[in-house]
Amino acid sequence: MGVEGDSNRVYIFDTTLRDGEQSPGFSMSMGQKLRVARALADLKVDIIEAGFPAASPGDFEAVRAVASEVEGPVIAGLCRTVPGDIERAARALEPAARSRIHVFIATSPIHRERKLCMSRDKVLREAVRGVELAAACAEVEFSAEDGIRTEREFLAEVLQAAIEAGASTLNIPDTVGYSTPADMYDLFSWLRENVPGIDGVRISTHCHDDLGLAVANSLAAVEAGARQIECTINGIGERAGNCALEEVVMALHTRADRFGCRTGIETRRLAAASHLVAAVTGNFVPRNKAIVGENAFAHEAGIHQHGVLADRKTYEIMRPADVGVRDSELVLGKHSGRHAVVDRARQMGYELDDAETDAVMERFKQLADRKKRIFDSDLEAIINGRQAGTAGPWSLAWLSVVSRINGESFPTASLTLAHQQGGTSTQTGEGDGPVDAIVHALEKATGMNIEVLSLAMRSISLGEDAQGEASLRAKVDGVEYGGHGLSTDIVAACAEALLEIVNRASSASERYLQSSAA
Ligand code: KIV
Ligand code: ZN
Repeated sequence: MGVEGDSNRVYIFDTTLRDGEQSPGFSMSMGQKLRVARALADLKVDIIEAGFPAASPGDFEAVRAVASEVEGPVIAGLCRTVPGDIERAARALEPAARSRIHVFIATSPIHRERKLCMSRDKVLREAVRGVELAAACAEVEFSAEDGIRTEREFLAEVLQAAIEAGASTLNIPDTVGYSTPADMYDLFSWLRENVPGIDGVRISTHCHDDLGLAVANSLAAVEAGARQIECTINGIGERAGNCALEEVVMALHTRADRFGCRTGIETRRLAAASHLVAAVTGNFVPRNKAIVGENAFAHEAGIHQHGVLADRKTYEIMRPADVGVRDSELVLGKHSGRHAVVDRARQMGYELDDAETDAVMERFKQLADRKKRIFDSDLEAIINGRQAGTAGPWSLAWLSVVSRINGESFPTASLTLAHQQGGTSTQTGEGDGPVDAIVHALEKATGMNIEVLSLAMRSISLGEDAQGEASLRAKVDGVEYGGHGLSTDIVAACAEALLEIVNRASSASERYLQSSAA
Protein backbone atom coordinates (compact mmCIF):
# COMPACT_ATOMS: atom_id res chain seq x y z
CA MET A 1 0.00 0.00 0.00
CA GLY A 2 2.87 2.36 0.57
CA VAL A 3 6.21 2.86 2.15
CA GLU A 4 5.17 5.43 4.76
CA GLY A 5 3.54 4.70 8.12
CA ASP A 6 0.11 6.23 7.41
CA SER A 7 -1.62 3.84 5.04
CA ASN A 8 -4.49 6.28 4.42
CA ARG A 9 -2.32 9.13 3.15
CA VAL A 10 -2.65 9.72 -0.61
CA TYR A 11 0.34 11.51 -2.19
CA ILE A 12 -0.34 14.12 -4.85
CA PHE A 13 2.11 14.12 -7.75
CA ASP A 14 1.51 17.19 -9.89
CA THR A 15 2.54 16.99 -13.54
CA THR A 16 1.13 20.35 -14.75
CA LEU A 17 4.64 21.42 -15.75
CA ARG A 18 5.38 18.22 -17.70
CA ASP A 19 2.31 16.35 -19.01
CA GLY A 20 0.24 19.56 -18.86
CA GLU A 21 2.79 21.91 -20.39
CA GLN A 22 3.74 19.57 -23.24
CA SER A 23 0.25 19.69 -24.79
CA PRO A 24 -0.42 22.10 -27.66
CA GLY A 25 -1.61 25.51 -26.53
CA PHE A 26 -0.35 25.16 -22.93
CA SER A 27 3.34 25.97 -23.21
CA MET A 28 4.86 28.18 -20.52
CA SER A 29 7.98 30.31 -20.37
CA MET A 30 10.58 29.64 -17.68
CA GLY A 31 9.28 32.52 -15.52
CA GLN A 32 5.74 31.19 -15.81
CA LYS A 33 6.86 27.67 -14.86
CA LEU A 34 8.55 29.01 -11.75
CA ARG A 35 5.47 30.97 -10.79
CA VAL A 36 3.29 27.86 -11.20
CA ALA A 37 5.80 25.73 -9.28
CA ARG A 38 5.66 28.17 -6.36
CA ALA A 39 1.85 28.03 -6.39
CA LEU A 40 2.08 24.22 -6.34
CA ALA A 41 4.40 24.39 -3.34
CA ASP A 42 1.91 26.73 -1.59
CA LEU A 43 -0.79 24.19 -2.40
CA LYS A 44 1.43 21.62 -0.66
CA VAL A 45 1.53 19.05 -3.44
CA ASP A 46 3.90 16.24 -2.47
CA ILE A 47 5.78 15.96 -5.75
CA ILE A 48 6.22 18.45 -8.62
CA GLU A 49 7.17 16.91 -11.95
CA ALA A 50 8.98 19.93 -13.33
CA GLY A 51 9.66 18.65 -16.85
CA PHE A 52 11.54 16.25 -19.09
CA PRO A 53 15.15 17.51 -18.85
CA ALA A 54 16.48 15.67 -21.91
CA ALA A 55 13.66 16.96 -24.15
CA SER A 56 15.31 20.35 -24.84
CA PRO A 57 17.76 22.85 -23.30
CA GLY A 58 14.73 24.92 -22.22
CA ASP A 59 13.23 21.96 -20.37
CA PHE A 60 16.55 21.24 -18.68
CA GLU A 61 16.88 24.85 -17.50
CA ALA A 62 13.30 24.96 -16.26
CA VAL A 63 13.70 21.78 -14.20
CA ARG A 64 16.97 23.10 -12.79
CA ALA A 65 15.37 26.45 -11.91
CA VAL A 66 12.46 24.77 -10.12
CA ALA A 67 14.89 22.44 -8.33
CA SER A 68 16.97 25.45 -7.19
CA GLU A 69 14.22 27.82 -6.20
CA VAL A 70 11.18 25.88 -5.02
CA GLU A 71 11.19 24.48 -1.52
CA GLY A 72 8.91 21.88 0.04
CA PRO A 73 7.81 19.27 -2.49
CA VAL A 74 10.01 16.55 -3.97
CA ILE A 75 11.08 17.73 -7.46
CA ALA A 76 10.87 15.11 -10.20
CA GLY A 77 12.18 14.92 -13.77
CA LEU A 78 10.95 12.48 -16.40
CA CYS A 79 13.31 10.39 -18.52
CA ARG A 80 13.47 7.40 -20.80
CA THR A 81 15.61 4.43 -19.82
CA VAL A 82 18.59 5.64 -21.87
CA PRO A 83 21.71 6.72 -19.93
CA GLY A 84 21.82 10.18 -21.57
CA ASP A 85 18.30 11.01 -20.32
CA ILE A 86 19.05 9.81 -16.81
CA GLU A 87 22.27 11.78 -16.63
CA ARG A 88 20.45 14.98 -17.81
CA ALA A 89 17.69 14.44 -15.25
CA ALA A 90 20.20 13.86 -12.44
CA ARG A 91 22.08 17.05 -13.40
CA ALA A 92 18.93 19.15 -13.65
CA LEU A 93 17.71 17.90 -10.26
CA GLU A 94 21.05 18.39 -8.44
CA PRO A 95 20.02 21.60 -6.60
CA ALA A 96 16.81 20.10 -5.16
CA ALA A 97 16.66 19.26 -1.47
CA ARG A 98 14.66 16.14 -2.37
CA SER A 99 14.57 14.79 -5.91
CA ARG A 100 13.06 11.93 -7.86
CA ILE A 101 13.98 10.49 -11.23
CA HIS A 102 10.91 9.26 -13.07
CA VAL A 103 11.92 6.54 -15.54
CA PHE A 104 9.41 5.26 -18.06
CA ILE A 105 9.17 2.75 -20.87
CA ALA A 106 6.11 1.55 -22.78
CA THR A 107 5.10 -2.03 -22.01
CA SER A 108 1.92 -2.70 -24.04
CA PRO A 109 2.08 -4.90 -27.15
CA ILE A 110 1.15 -2.09 -29.54
CA HIS A 111 3.78 0.26 -28.13
CA ARG A 112 6.46 -2.48 -27.98
CA GLU A 113 5.84 -3.66 -31.51
CA ARG A 114 4.87 -0.50 -33.39
CA LYS A 115 6.68 2.29 -31.51
CA LEU A 116 9.72 0.81 -29.78
CA CYS A 117 10.27 -2.22 -32.06
CA MET A 118 11.41 -4.16 -28.98
CA SER A 119 10.69 -7.65 -27.73
CA ARG A 120 9.29 -8.20 -24.26
CA ASP A 121 12.74 -9.26 -23.07
CA LYS A 122 14.32 -6.12 -24.41
CA VAL A 123 11.70 -3.90 -22.72
CA LEU A 124 12.30 -5.75 -19.47
CA ARG A 125 16.08 -5.31 -19.72
CA GLU A 126 15.69 -1.61 -20.59
CA ALA A 127 13.41 -1.03 -17.60
CA VAL A 128 15.91 -2.66 -15.25
CA ARG A 129 18.87 -0.77 -16.72
CA GLY A 130 17.05 2.58 -16.46
CA VAL A 131 15.92 2.06 -12.88
CA GLU A 132 19.34 0.83 -11.76
CA LEU A 133 21.12 3.81 -13.31
CA ALA A 134 18.64 6.27 -11.82
CA ALA A 135 18.71 4.62 -8.39
CA ALA A 136 22.41 5.48 -8.16
CA CYS A 137 21.46 9.20 -8.24
CA ALA A 138 18.05 9.74 -6.58
CA GLU A 139 14.85 8.05 -5.46
CA VAL A 140 13.18 6.39 -8.44
CA GLU A 141 9.67 6.15 -9.80
CA PHE A 142 9.09 3.65 -12.60
CA SER A 143 6.21 4.01 -15.07
CA ALA A 144 5.01 1.27 -17.40
CA GLU A 145 3.63 3.51 -20.16
CA ASP A 146 0.30 2.22 -21.51
CA GLY A 147 0.36 -0.13 -18.52
CA ILE A 148 -3.36 -0.72 -18.53
CA ARG A 149 -3.22 -2.20 -22.08
CA THR A 150 -0.29 -4.46 -21.18
CA GLU A 151 -0.65 -8.26 -20.74
CA ARG A 152 -1.08 -8.69 -16.98
CA GLU A 153 1.61 -11.34 -16.48
CA PHE A 154 4.16 -9.27 -18.39
CA LEU A 155 3.18 -6.10 -16.53
CA ALA A 156 3.63 -7.94 -13.22
CA GLU A 157 7.04 -9.22 -14.37
CA VAL A 158 8.25 -5.70 -15.35
CA LEU A 159 6.97 -4.15 -12.12
CA GLN A 160 8.63 -6.83 -10.00
CA ALA A 161 11.91 -6.30 -11.87
CA ALA A 162 11.63 -2.51 -11.34
CA ILE A 163 11.17 -3.02 -7.59
CA GLU A 164 14.19 -5.30 -7.46
CA ALA A 165 16.23 -2.74 -9.44
CA GLY A 166 15.47 -0.04 -6.86
CA ALA A 167 12.18 1.74 -7.73
CA SER A 168 10.23 2.93 -4.69
CA THR A 169 7.14 4.11 -6.61
CA LEU A 170 5.41 2.12 -9.35
CA ASN A 171 3.13 4.01 -11.70
CA ILE A 172 0.63 2.20 -13.93
CA PRO A 173 -0.66 4.82 -16.39
CA ASP A 174 -3.83 4.78 -18.42
CA THR A 175 -1.88 6.57 -21.15
CA VAL A 176 -4.71 6.59 -23.68
CA GLY A 177 -7.66 7.16 -21.32
CA TYR A 178 -9.26 3.82 -22.23
CA SER A 179 -9.97 2.31 -18.83
CA THR A 180 -13.17 2.33 -16.78
CA PRO A 181 -13.34 2.55 -12.97
CA ALA A 182 -14.20 -1.18 -12.73
CA ASP A 183 -11.18 -2.07 -14.93
CA MET A 184 -8.92 0.06 -12.74
CA TYR A 185 -10.14 -1.47 -9.51
CA ASP A 186 -9.71 -4.94 -10.92
CA LEU A 187 -6.19 -4.35 -12.33
CA PHE A 188 -4.79 -2.58 -9.26
CA SER A 189 -6.26 -5.25 -6.94
CA TRP A 190 -4.77 -7.99 -9.13
CA LEU A 191 -1.33 -6.33 -9.17
CA ARG A 192 -1.33 -6.07 -5.40
CA GLU A 193 -1.90 -9.80 -5.19
CA ASN A 194 0.45 -10.85 -7.96
CA VAL A 195 3.57 -8.66 -7.85
CA PRO A 196 6.01 -9.88 -5.20
CA GLY A 197 7.37 -6.98 -3.15
CA ILE A 198 4.65 -4.52 -4.18
CA ASP A 199 3.58 -3.94 -0.58
CA GLY A 200 6.94 -2.34 0.09
CA VAL A 201 6.56 0.38 -2.56
CA ARG A 202 4.03 3.10 -3.32
CA ILE A 203 1.56 2.36 -6.12
CA SER A 204 0.62 5.26 -8.35
CA THR A 205 -2.14 6.02 -10.85
CA HIS A 206 -1.84 8.34 -13.87
CA CYS A 207 -5.02 8.67 -15.91
CA HIS A 208 -5.80 10.53 -19.11
CA ASP A 209 -9.27 11.87 -19.78
CA ASP A 210 -10.10 10.69 -23.30
CA LEU A 211 -13.41 9.21 -22.14
CA GLY A 212 -13.95 11.77 -19.38
CA LEU A 213 -13.10 9.14 -16.75
CA ALA A 214 -9.68 10.24 -15.49
CA VAL A 215 -10.87 11.38 -12.06
CA ALA A 216 -13.22 8.40 -11.58
CA ASN A 217 -10.46 6.02 -12.68
CA SER A 218 -7.93 7.56 -10.29
CA LEU A 219 -10.40 7.24 -7.41
CA ALA A 220 -11.03 3.58 -8.32
CA ALA A 221 -7.27 2.96 -8.23
CA VAL A 222 -7.15 4.53 -4.76
CA GLU A 223 -9.95 2.24 -3.62
CA ALA A 224 -7.82 -0.67 -4.82
CA GLY A 225 -4.77 0.53 -2.88
CA ALA A 226 -2.98 3.17 -5.00
CA ARG A 227 -1.51 5.84 -2.74
CA GLN A 228 -0.15 8.31 -5.28
CA ILE A 229 -2.28 10.17 -7.83
CA GLU A 230 -0.67 11.89 -10.79
CA CYS A 231 -2.71 14.88 -11.88
CA THR A 232 -2.63 18.44 -13.21
CA ILE A 233 -4.21 21.77 -12.31
CA ASN A 234 -7.41 22.28 -14.35
CA GLY A 235 -6.83 18.78 -15.80
CA ILE A 236 -4.58 20.16 -18.53
CA GLY A 237 -2.53 17.61 -20.48
CA GLU A 238 -2.11 15.51 -23.60
CA ARG A 239 -5.23 15.36 -25.82
CA ALA A 240 -8.27 15.53 -23.50
CA GLY A 241 -5.99 16.12 -20.53
CA ASN A 242 -5.04 14.41 -17.27
CA CYS A 243 -6.86 13.77 -14.02
CA ALA A 244 -7.80 17.22 -12.61
CA LEU A 245 -6.00 17.79 -9.30
CA GLU A 246 -8.69 20.03 -7.82
CA GLU A 247 -11.43 17.49 -8.62
CA VAL A 248 -9.70 14.37 -7.36
CA VAL A 249 -8.50 16.11 -4.19
CA MET A 250 -11.95 17.51 -3.38
CA ALA A 251 -13.56 14.13 -4.08
CA LEU A 252 -11.22 12.48 -1.55
CA HIS A 253 -11.78 15.33 0.90
CA THR A 254 -15.57 15.65 0.55
CA ARG A 255 -16.16 11.88 0.41
CA ALA A 256 -13.72 10.89 3.13
CA ASP A 257 -16.62 8.78 4.43
CA ARG A 258 -16.24 6.58 1.34
CA PHE A 259 -12.51 6.64 0.62
CA GLY A 260 -11.17 6.93 4.16
CA CYS A 261 -8.07 8.71 2.81
CA ARG A 262 -6.49 12.11 3.19
CA THR A 263 -4.09 14.23 1.18
CA GLY A 264 -1.77 16.98 2.40
CA ILE A 265 -3.28 19.56 0.01
CA GLU A 266 -4.05 23.06 1.27
CA THR A 267 -7.45 23.10 -0.44
CA ARG A 268 -7.96 26.84 0.15
CA ARG A 269 -5.28 27.46 -2.46
CA LEU A 270 -7.04 25.51 -5.21
CA ALA A 271 -8.89 28.43 -6.80
CA ALA A 272 -5.75 30.62 -6.88
CA ALA A 273 -3.67 27.83 -8.48
CA SER A 274 -6.38 27.23 -11.06
CA HIS A 275 -6.64 30.93 -11.94
CA LEU A 276 -2.88 31.20 -12.25
CA VAL A 277 -2.57 28.23 -14.63
CA ALA A 278 -5.48 29.57 -16.70
CA ALA A 279 -3.85 33.00 -16.88
CA VAL A 280 -0.33 31.92 -17.76
CA THR A 281 -1.42 29.43 -20.42
CA GLY A 282 -4.12 31.75 -21.79
CA ASN A 283 -6.81 29.06 -21.42
CA PHE A 284 -9.88 29.96 -19.35
CA VAL A 285 -11.61 27.17 -17.47
CA PRO A 286 -15.23 26.57 -18.53
CA ARG A 287 -17.83 28.26 -16.31
CA ASN A 288 -19.34 24.94 -15.29
CA LYS A 289 -16.02 23.23 -14.48
CA ALA A 290 -16.22 21.31 -11.20
CA ILE A 291 -14.60 23.01 -8.16
CA VAL A 292 -12.99 25.99 -9.94
CA GLY A 293 -15.46 27.07 -12.65
CA GLU A 294 -17.23 30.41 -12.15
CA ASN A 295 -20.57 28.66 -11.73
CA ALA A 296 -19.31 25.91 -9.42
CA PHE A 297 -20.89 27.64 -6.40
CA ALA A 298 -23.51 29.84 -8.13
CA HIS A 299 -27.17 29.15 -7.44
CA GLU A 300 -29.37 30.64 -10.11
CA ALA A 301 -32.68 28.77 -10.08
CA GLY A 302 -35.18 30.33 -7.65
CA ILE A 303 -35.83 27.07 -5.87
CA HIS A 304 -32.08 26.57 -5.34
CA GLN A 305 -31.61 30.13 -4.07
CA HIS A 306 -34.43 29.62 -1.64
CA GLY A 307 -32.88 26.39 -0.37
CA VAL A 308 -29.42 27.90 -0.01
CA LEU A 309 -30.76 30.90 1.88
CA ALA A 310 -32.53 28.56 4.30
CA ASP A 311 -29.49 26.29 4.70
CA ARG A 312 -26.47 26.22 2.37
CA LYS A 313 -26.20 22.46 2.78
CA THR A 314 -29.42 21.99 0.78
CA TYR A 315 -27.46 22.46 -2.45
CA GLU A 316 -23.81 22.80 -1.40
CA ILE A 317 -21.66 19.77 -0.67
CA MET A 318 -18.53 21.89 -0.20
CA ARG A 319 -18.07 25.39 1.20
CA PRO A 320 -16.72 27.82 -1.42
CA ALA A 321 -14.15 29.01 1.11
CA ASP A 322 -12.76 25.46 1.38
CA VAL A 323 -11.41 25.74 -2.17
CA GLY A 324 -10.48 29.41 -1.87
CA VAL A 325 -13.51 30.88 -3.67
CA ARG A 326 -14.52 34.20 -2.13
CA ASP A 327 -17.61 36.26 -2.80
CA SER A 328 -16.71 39.12 -5.09
CA GLU A 329 -16.22 41.82 -2.47
CA LEU A 330 -15.67 45.52 -2.89
CA VAL A 331 -12.33 45.91 -1.18
CA LEU A 332 -10.18 48.59 -2.71
CA GLY A 333 -10.34 51.83 -4.63
CA LYS A 334 -8.47 54.91 -5.78
CA HIS A 335 -7.37 55.84 -2.28
CA SER A 336 -6.11 52.42 -1.24
CA GLY A 337 -2.39 52.45 -0.59
CA ARG A 338 0.41 49.93 -0.97
CA HIS A 339 -0.15 48.50 2.49
CA ALA A 340 -3.83 47.79 1.85
CA VAL A 341 -3.10 46.16 -1.51
CA VAL A 342 -0.32 43.95 -0.14
CA ASP A 343 -2.47 43.02 2.82
CA ARG A 344 -5.45 42.10 0.67
CA ALA A 345 -3.22 40.10 -1.69
CA ARG A 346 -1.84 38.20 1.30
CA GLN A 347 -5.36 37.39 2.51
CA MET A 348 -6.03 36.05 -0.97
CA GLY A 349 -2.97 33.79 -0.74
CA TYR A 350 -0.43 35.86 -2.71
CA GLU A 351 2.88 36.79 -1.11
CA LEU A 352 4.32 39.62 -3.21
CA ASP A 353 7.98 40.57 -3.04
CA ASP A 354 9.02 44.22 -3.43
CA ALA A 355 9.49 44.11 -7.21
CA GLU A 356 6.16 42.36 -7.70
CA THR A 357 4.44 44.86 -5.41
CA ASP A 358 5.86 47.76 -7.45
CA ALA A 359 4.54 46.22 -10.67
CA VAL A 360 1.14 45.42 -9.15
CA MET A 361 0.83 48.93 -7.66
CA GLU A 362 1.60 50.56 -11.00
CA ARG A 363 -1.16 48.58 -12.63
CA PHE A 364 -3.50 49.03 -9.67
CA LYS A 365 -3.20 52.82 -9.79
CA GLN A 366 -3.84 52.87 -13.55
CA LEU A 367 -6.93 50.75 -13.02
CA ALA A 368 -8.17 52.78 -10.06
CA ASP A 369 -8.11 55.90 -12.25
CA ARG A 370 -10.51 54.24 -14.67
CA LYS A 371 -12.57 52.06 -12.36
CA LYS A 372 -14.17 53.11 -9.09
CA ARG A 373 -14.56 49.71 -7.47
CA ILE A 374 -11.74 47.22 -7.44
CA PHE A 375 -12.85 43.71 -6.56
CA ASP A 376 -10.79 40.74 -5.38
CA SER A 377 -11.09 39.27 -8.87
CA ASP A 378 -9.63 42.49 -10.38
CA LEU A 379 -6.71 42.37 -7.98
CA GLU A 380 -6.13 38.69 -8.65
CA ALA A 381 -6.17 39.31 -12.41
CA ILE A 382 -3.61 42.10 -11.99
CA ILE A 383 -1.39 39.87 -9.84
CA ASN A 384 -1.59 36.94 -12.23
CA GLY A 385 -1.03 39.13 -15.23
CA ARG A 386 1.96 40.85 -13.66
CA GLN A 387 3.54 37.76 -12.19
CA ALA A 388 2.93 35.56 -15.17
CA GLY A 389 6.21 36.36 -16.87
CA THR A 390 4.77 38.58 -19.60
CA ALA A 391 7.94 40.63 -19.78
CA GLY A 392 9.90 40.68 -23.03
CA PRO A 393 11.86 43.00 -25.28
CA TRP A 394 8.87 44.98 -26.61
CA SER A 395 6.57 47.40 -24.85
CA LEU A 396 3.62 49.29 -26.24
CA ALA A 397 4.34 53.02 -25.97
CA TRP A 398 1.25 54.25 -27.80
CA LEU A 399 -1.85 52.83 -29.48
CA SER A 400 -4.72 54.41 -31.34
CA VAL A 401 -7.45 52.40 -33.03
CA VAL A 402 -10.21 53.74 -35.26
CA SER A 403 -13.13 51.44 -36.00
CA ARG A 404 -15.06 51.26 -39.27
CA ILE A 405 -17.98 53.71 -39.53
CA ASN A 406 -20.80 52.80 -41.93
CA GLY A 407 -18.41 50.55 -43.84
CA GLU A 408 -16.72 53.51 -45.55
CA SER A 409 -13.23 53.03 -44.20
CA PHE A 410 -11.22 50.13 -42.87
CA PRO A 411 -10.51 49.88 -39.16
CA THR A 412 -7.03 51.26 -38.63
CA ALA A 413 -4.52 50.80 -35.82
CA SER A 414 -1.48 53.00 -35.29
CA LEU A 415 1.03 52.06 -32.65
CA THR A 416 4.50 52.70 -31.36
CA LEU A 417 6.55 49.80 -30.02
CA ALA A 418 9.63 50.46 -27.92
CA HIS A 419 12.45 47.90 -27.77
CA GLN A 420 14.34 47.39 -24.50
CA GLN A 421 17.67 47.73 -26.30
CA GLY A 422 16.60 51.16 -27.48
CA GLY A 423 14.71 52.40 -30.51
CA THR A 424 11.06 52.60 -31.36
CA SER A 425 8.95 51.62 -34.33
CA THR A 426 5.73 53.42 -35.28
CA GLN A 427 3.47 51.66 -37.74
CA THR A 428 -0.10 51.70 -39.02
CA GLY A 429 -2.16 48.69 -40.11
CA GLU A 430 -5.61 48.21 -41.58
CA GLY A 431 -7.79 45.16 -41.13
CA ASP A 432 -11.25 43.63 -41.13
CA GLY A 433 -11.67 44.66 -37.51
CA PRO A 434 -9.70 46.51 -34.83
CA VAL A 435 -7.82 43.38 -33.68
CA ASP A 436 -6.88 42.48 -37.24
CA ALA A 437 -5.64 46.05 -37.74
CA ILE A 438 -3.46 45.81 -34.60
CA VAL A 439 -2.05 42.48 -35.88
CA HIS A 440 -1.04 44.10 -39.16
CA ALA A 441 0.59 47.05 -37.41
CA LEU A 442 2.48 44.68 -35.09
CA GLU A 443 3.65 42.61 -38.06
CA LYS A 444 5.11 45.71 -39.67
CA ALA A 445 6.74 46.87 -36.42
CA THR A 446 8.35 43.52 -35.57
CA GLY A 447 8.80 41.82 -38.95
CA MET A 448 6.96 38.78 -37.54
CA ASN A 449 4.25 36.84 -39.27
CA ILE A 450 1.27 36.59 -36.90
CA GLU A 451 -1.71 34.33 -37.55
CA VAL A 452 -4.47 34.62 -34.92
CA LEU A 453 -6.00 31.22 -34.14
CA SER A 454 -8.51 32.05 -31.42
CA LEU A 455 -9.69 34.94 -29.28
CA ALA A 456 -11.82 34.67 -26.14
CA MET A 457 -13.01 37.55 -23.95
CA ARG A 458 -14.58 37.55 -20.53
CA SER A 459 -15.46 40.14 -18.00
CA ILE A 460 -13.65 40.25 -14.66
CA SER A 461 -15.83 41.32 -11.71
CA LEU A 462 -18.98 43.43 -11.89
CA GLY A 463 -20.35 46.71 -13.25
CA GLU A 464 -20.25 48.72 -16.47
CA ASP A 465 -16.64 49.62 -15.86
CA ALA A 466 -15.66 45.96 -15.39
CA GLN A 467 -12.32 44.91 -16.84
CA GLY A 468 -12.27 42.69 -19.91
CA GLU A 469 -9.77 39.83 -20.06
CA ALA A 470 -8.62 38.75 -23.52
CA SER A 471 -7.13 35.34 -24.11
CA LEU A 472 -5.55 34.94 -27.51
CA ARG A 473 -3.73 32.17 -29.33
CA ALA A 474 -1.65 32.88 -32.41
CA LYS A 475 1.04 31.35 -34.57
CA VAL A 476 4.14 33.50 -34.93
CA ASP A 477 6.31 32.36 -37.81
CA GLY A 478 4.58 28.96 -37.58
CA VAL A 479 4.97 28.42 -33.79
CA GLU A 480 1.91 28.61 -31.51
CA TYR A 481 1.84 30.95 -28.48
CA GLY A 482 -0.78 32.16 -26.02
CA GLY A 483 -1.20 35.59 -24.51
CA HIS A 484 -3.61 37.40 -22.25
CA GLY A 485 -4.43 41.01 -21.63
CA LEU A 486 -6.50 42.92 -19.15
CA SER A 487 -8.09 46.33 -19.47
CA THR A 488 -11.34 48.22 -19.06
CA ASP A 489 -10.99 48.78 -22.83
CA ILE A 490 -11.43 45.44 -24.62
CA VAL A 491 -9.45 46.49 -27.71
CA ALA A 492 -6.53 47.47 -25.43
CA ALA A 493 -6.87 44.08 -23.68
CA CYS A 494 -6.50 42.36 -27.08
CA ALA A 495 -3.48 44.55 -27.90
CA GLU A 496 -1.84 43.52 -24.61
CA ALA A 497 -2.51 39.86 -25.35
CA LEU A 498 -0.95 40.24 -28.80
CA LEU A 499 2.04 42.03 -27.31
CA GLU A 500 2.58 39.16 -24.88
CA ILE A 501 2.58 36.76 -27.83
CA VAL A 502 5.08 38.90 -29.73
CA ASN A 503 7.30 39.04 -26.63
CA ARG A 504 7.11 35.30 -26.06
CA ALA A 505 8.02 34.67 -29.68
CA SER A 506 10.96 37.12 -29.47
CA SER A 507 12.25 35.51 -26.25
CA ALA A 508 11.91 32.03 -27.75
CA SER A 509 13.86 32.96 -30.87
CA GLU A 510 16.55 34.66 -28.75
CA ARG A 511 16.83 31.48 -26.65
CA TYR A 512 17.08 29.45 -29.84
CA LEU A 513 19.83 31.72 -31.20
CA GLN A 514 21.76 31.47 -27.92
CA SER A 515 21.48 27.69 -27.77
CA SER A 516 22.51 27.23 -31.40
CA ALA A 517 25.47 29.58 -30.87
CA ALA A 518 26.59 27.64 -27.75
O1 KIV B 1 0.61 9.05 -19.95
C1 KIV B 1 1.68 8.48 -19.68
O2 KIV B 1 1.84 7.25 -19.81
C2 KIV B 1 2.78 9.29 -19.20
C3 KIV B 1 3.99 8.58 -18.69
C4 KIV B 1 5.23 9.12 -19.28
C5 KIV B 1 3.99 8.58 -17.20
O3 KIV B 1 2.68 10.50 -19.17
ZN1 ZN C 1 0.53 11.09 -19.25
